[in-house]
Amino acid sequence: MNPSADSDHQPPPNPPVRGDRNAVDPVVERFHFLVNAPALFNAVVTALEWDLFGMLAKHPGASFEELRRATGVPAHSLRVLLHAVCTTGLLERQADGAYHNAPAADELLVPDGPDSWRHILTGWKEIYYPAFTRMSEALAAGTNTALAAHPGDEPTLYRRLSHNPELETVFHRSMSAFTLKSLDSLVECEEFATVRHLLDVGGGDGTTSEQLIARHPGLRSTIFDIPSVSQLAAEHNTAGEADRERIALHPGDLFADPFPAGADAVLFSHVLEIFSGEQITELLTKAYSALPSGGRVFVYGYNVSDDETRGWYSARLSLYLNVLASGQGMAYPARDYEEWARRAGFTGVRTLTDHPYEHGLTIGTKA
Ligand SMILES: C[S@@+](CC[C@H](N)C(=O)[O-])C[C@H]1O[C@@H](n2cnc3c(N)ncnc32)[C@H](O)[C@@H]1O
Repeated sequence: MNPSADSDHQPPPNPPVRGDRNAVDPVVERFHFLVNAPALFNAVVTALEWDLFGMLAKHPGASFEELRRATGVPAHSLRVLLHAVCTTGLLERQADGAYHNAPAADELLVPDGPDSWRHILTGWKEIYYPAFTRMSEALAAGTNTALAAHPGDEPTLYRRLSHNPELETVFHRSMSAFTLKSLDSLVECEEFATVRHLLDVGGGDGTTSEQLIARHPGLRSTIFDIPSVSQLAAEHNTAGEADRERIALHPGDLFADPFPAGADAVLFSHVLEIFSGEQITELLTKAYSALPSGGRVFVYGYNVSDDETRGWYSARLSLYLNVLASGQGMAYPARDYEEWARRAGFTGVRTLTDHPYEHGLTIGTKA
């Protein structure tokens, strides 16, 4: 059974605010979306897996029957899924029954490159969101109890993922895609024009270093990460061959092992937020010791607003860190990073704000 064109009607409006049938309180509206969002999130991921957005980009106005033939799924399942995705506004169904991507879906969900939202949402579906069912328990315990779902006895998700290479690849593809979305303003930062040798601590699969060396011809980078992730970085290789020679890999543990010598700048991108204030001070102190006089530290990542009331992306990250990844850390406000950098000995500490996706870049110099 497929939805017939003549039964088409607009979804009911949001429930009216008490006492005023016309006004819609945006918080009430957001509440109604929010409480249905976990189901709708998964519906959007299913639509991606069935390539519905890709098909409709190639064949705008496809009918239900055309979509059913292309997906090969039961008609009733497709009916249910299309309704769910239409409620988000990402798909539109015309009165004649033709389906179209909304402009936002064409922009966000059709592209399939390394920065695709497909990769990001797959990582969230496979790794982040299953863990959030244990949120109350983990937050009450004050530790990442959801990590029990991953084999191993290491205390963080990053190190346990090395037992599951397939999931580790999903994680880093998702991380890399999100990093690419938030990276341009870091890469364009003129401070990097005068860096000669960067130590990219927790540099993951090399996405950030590759973008930096491509933009700054005088720069080379050493990526310091755990051995299984260094292996992913060795295989990642999206940089050209000449550029690739400017990237070195240094497998190790950033707490147990010394920082390699020789860099004139240290970058922590999406790394310090994983840890406690004491651990962050320890890592910044290690960076300070490894740098020559005049060397700089760069801390890039999510910053909550100073009043700690805003930032959906930061909130999601902080919850993920505490429930699953490390059992501590958060998208700290910039002033916390500045304080820890000064405590480690850095001077001229300041934060460049207003980077995309709630990001900030804190910079300090070794006198
Ligand atoms: C959130 S990812 C950030 C990756 C990359 N810097 C970026 O911005 O896309 C954190 C990285 O820190 C690494 N990491 C976590 N704990 C580590 C440890 N103890 N020693 C070395 N690397 C570690 C992880 O393997 C992972 O690649």
